[in-house]
This record gives sequence, C-alpha cells and structure tokens, in this order.
Amino acid sequence: MGSLLRSEGPVRVLVVDDDEDVRDVLCQEFERRGLSAEGAASAAEARGLFGAGGRFDLVLCDIDMPGERGTELLAWLKATDADVAVVMVTGISDAPTAVGAMLNGASDYVCKPFSLAEVRARTDQALDKRRLVLENRAYQTNLERLVEERTHEVLAAMAEIRSLSDDLRAAYDATLAAMLSALDKRDNETQGHSLRVVAYTERLAKEIGIAEPELTAIRRGALLHDVGKIGVPDAILRKPGKLDRDEWLVMKKHAELGYEMLRDIKFLRDAALIVLTHQERFDGTGYPRGLKGEEIPIGARIFACADALDAMTSDRPYRKALPYERVRQELIDFAGTQFDPLVVEAFLRIPPEDWRRIRDAAERAVLSGAEFGSGIL
Ligand SMILES: [Fe+2]
Repeated sequence: MGSLLRSEGPVRVLVVDDDEDVRDVLCQEFERRGLSAEGAASAAEARGLFGAGGRFDLVLCDIDMPGERGTELLAWLKATDADVAVVMVTGISDAPTAVGAMLNGASDYVCKPFSLAEVRARTDQALDKRRLVLENRAYQTNLERLVEERTHEVLAAMAEIRSLSDDLRAAYDATLAAMLSALDKRDNETQGHSLRVVAYTERLAKEIGIAEPELTAIRRGALLHDVGKIGVPDAILRKPGKLDRDEWLVMKKHAELGYEMLRDIKFLRDAALIVLTHQERFDGTGYPRGLKGEEIPIGARIFACADALDAMTSDRPYRKALPYERVRQELIDFAGTQFDPLVVEAFLRIPPEDWRRIRDAAERAVLSGAEFGSGIL
C-alpha cells in the first residue's frame, strides 16, 4: 500500500493483455499522450513488473486471459497497492464480470472492441480520482502534522510560562521573607517569630486537611500578619511599659494597615484577609471588626493558635519560655472564647515532639539566614 503522490515524472501505465496487438495499440496511445507505458502478456508477467507495489499509477487489465484471470490479478494488485487505479478491459459477454470487478476495487471498465477516445475518457477519470484521493490524504497528513507541531509549541510555551511563574512566585516569597525578617528585627523580642509562626500554622492547617492553593495563602498570611506594624511608630512599638489608651488605639490599627498594604496585590489577596483578621477572637471580642466564629477566615483562626504557641514558648523580658503543657492548657481553657474549638482539637492531636521539631527547624533556618530564601515558605 501507499504509493505517495509523485510530484515529478510521467504517469506510469501497465497494460496487461494476452493479445499483443491490443497491448501495442494501447501502449502507443499512452506514450503518445506523454505517459510511460509497459505491456505484460499475462497476470504472472504483470506481477513481476508491478513488483512490491507503487511502480505503476494505472493498470489496464484484460479479464479473459490464459492462466490467471484478470479478476484475480485485480485482487492481488489492490492488496499490493490499494491506491493503484485499475481499469478492466473485457469482451462484451464479460460485462457482468467487469461490473463485479468494480465492486472489488476496479475504477472502471471498457468493453472490446473499444475506441481510443473511450479508453482515454475512462483512464483519465480513473487517474483523476486517484490523484484526488492521494492529494486529500497528503493534505490530511500535513494537517495532522501541523496540528501536532502547534500542539507541541503550545505545550512548550505553557511549560515555559509555568516555570517563569514558579520563578516569579519564588522571587515574591523571598522578597516577602526578607521584608518580614527586617520587621522581626525591629519589633519582636525574639528573632524568627514570623518563620516559626508560618511553620506552626502550616502544620496545623495540614492537620485540619487544608490543601493547596489555600495552604500557600495561609502561609503567606501567617508570614505577613504583623506587616502593618511598619506604620506603628517606634515610640509605641518598642515602649517597654504598658501602652496608654491612645497608644493602644494606634497599635490596634496595624491589622487594617497591613490589609491596606496588601489588598491590591493580586497574589496576596487571600493572605491580606488573614492579615486583616489575625487579631479577631472566636467569641467576637477581637479587633478590628469584632468578627465571630466562622466569620473569621479559617487561616486566621489557625494562626491564632500558632501565634499563641510561639508567644508562650518564647522567652520574654518579663518571663522565661513556658513549657508545652502550659500552652496545651491555655488552648483548652480559651477554646470557644479566644480560639476556635475545632482548631484547638486539631492542635491537641499533634504530638508535642512535632512542635519541637518544627521549632528547631525554623531556628536553624533563621541561623543559616534561610529567611531570605523562599525555602521555608
Ligand atoms: Fe498582630
């Protein structure tokens, strides 16, 4: 099977007929028209000339020949090259056989005695049909190849965009981490507070069954929770004693300040909501909005427990770090008021060694300066 469409050279015709005169007349006629023609006196000779297929575009095939009949040769020709055009040549008494041959793949037939004009008309038609079939197939193949090529190009472009956006995201996160590290140094008594809270929040979120992309938003919200403190003056932020009423009002603004800083940054939109609500309490007594229960985003409810864990297990100027058992008791005592009872439940399911391991890893990251990378995020 599979003669390809030939772009060069004359159309090649094989004339199979046991009558030498017929062969000669037909071959001369084809040659005169600029086609190349060869004759075969029998089906066996035709097979030898036809070879493995594709050597001829058109076969004129006599039906009634000594030895193998033309109808059998037709079957062999079509099995060898499904695209070859075959026009049967037959005596008038064989007309029903010729019609049957068309059902088996012959393009047409001519009856003896024939006129050359008739042969020309039939063979031209058979060759036109063959050309159309081959052109159509070449077009389809080309189209499929084009579609495949374009698909590859689109997939490659998408992979590139994905990798660029991964790089960009990593750069964003590294920038955020660097910014927060600076903030930690200004504000917190203990270094690495932001990174530890991120790690605790993430562990707790996973325990609750939160997955990507929500997990990333929650991690970023935890990292950025106090970013609004940039807008709180040092005199208030670093005041050693208790804040007076007015100072406290300024301090409380940090949640909304942080939200305003971030809310227009598209990739931080969900994180910004956590920043806004990180000081809310489950019973509605927190700030800035006094949201209650599930009105508070789950990320902020998780953060509240993680933040309590870090605050209590870190040294303060006025007290040493408290043991895990105290944290546990505090969370139980304030479940339903300060904390979401479901989050507290998840917290208590996590073995204390896990919290210690997470704390040690965050500490190591701070010491090695990894807060400037996005690894921990
Ligand atoms: Fe805060």
